[in-house]
Amino acid sequence: MLIKRKRGWELPESAATPEAIYRNRRNFIKGITAGTLGAAAATLPAGRAFAQAAAPNADLYPAKHNDAYTVDRAITPKAKATTYNNFYEFGSHKFISDAAQAMKITPWTVQIDGMVEKPIEMDFDDLVRKMPLEERVYRFRCVEAWAMTVPWTGFPMKALVDFAKPTSGAKYIQMQTAEQKDTMPGLKQFWYPWPYTEGLTMAEATNELTMIATGLYGEPLPKQNGAPLRLVTPWKYGFKNIKSIVKFTFTDKRPVGYWESLADSEYGFWANVNPKVPHPRWSQAQERLLSNGDEVPTQLFNGYGDYVADIYKGMDGEKLYM
Ligand code: MTE
Repeated sequence: MLIKRKRGWELPESAATPEAIYRNRRNFIKGITAGTLGAAAATLPAGRAFAQAAAPNADLYPAKHNDAYTVDRAITPKAKATTYNNFYEFGSHKFISDAAQAMKITPWTVQIDGMVEKPIEMDFDDLVRKMPLEERVYRFRCVEAWAMTVPWTGFPMKALVDFAKPTSGAKYIQMQTAEQKDTMPGLKQFWYPWPYTEGLTMAEATNELTMIATGLYGEPLPKQNGAPLRLVTPWKYGFKNIKSIVKFTFTDKRPVGYWESLADSEYGFWANVNPKVPHPRWSQAQERLLSNGDEVPTQLFNGYGDYVADIYKGMDGEKLYM
């Protein structure tokens, strides 16, 4: 991004939590009541307890794990994924996890508008209870060439699209992040094009991989990771994965995202991961694991080509990988 690279993740770290250990922890969490989740999290080795137990939907976690989406990497320790973040509303550096705790997430109204049969406005807690929640472990690749592997809880975005009932002319969905002037100091940086927005085509939004995440590591989503709901598109660079969404607008015009409007030659609409197409200022051939600093080869579509390559057939004129 248009930022100095902080090198916190380059420090040598112990190995990533193997999935078996993570699973045991999950079973442990499953065994306790939602009301005690916060207290229990404080005792967990890899975790740092943020104020999550108060979330009104805490009873929904952990959700049923979906084994269909397997990864060949260890799960990134929770302490890493929840303290090394990009969330410019709270600062243009990686260490915003404390500042993000100020964000107010209850009540949280979600708006669905534009080319839909009938605009909808509803509280997040009512919306999430209508959706089929499950847990999936996905790889995640930031355009800055760091990567993590985390268990998201959420629902297929297709379920939201079906609920929204778009009209036949809708071709894209634009999403928008909350603007809380009193809790988000980054909004004072007037040179950024607030609010943060992102967009997907209908084919991308309804692809089986695309999730609206509401949880992480078997608990409600931490604020710094985009509570109460954020986008997850594991085959695209991380900046597409817009956080803390308040609005979904169905449209026939291709939306221009936050980063795209700042520098479209560096951060485009498609932003599909491709090791062979370098960012104008750095290579994308390798990626650094947030868990232990190892450098590993990047994969086309972040390894999810079997699910998504067909979407882009015949789009040769487009800058699919930028
Ligand atoms: N969403 C909003 N609203 N603001 C942001 O600054 N940063 C993006 C994306 N979503 C961002 C955002 C970028 S650049 C990345 S890499 C991911 O969030 C990081 O997600 P994480 O902090 O959960 O790892």
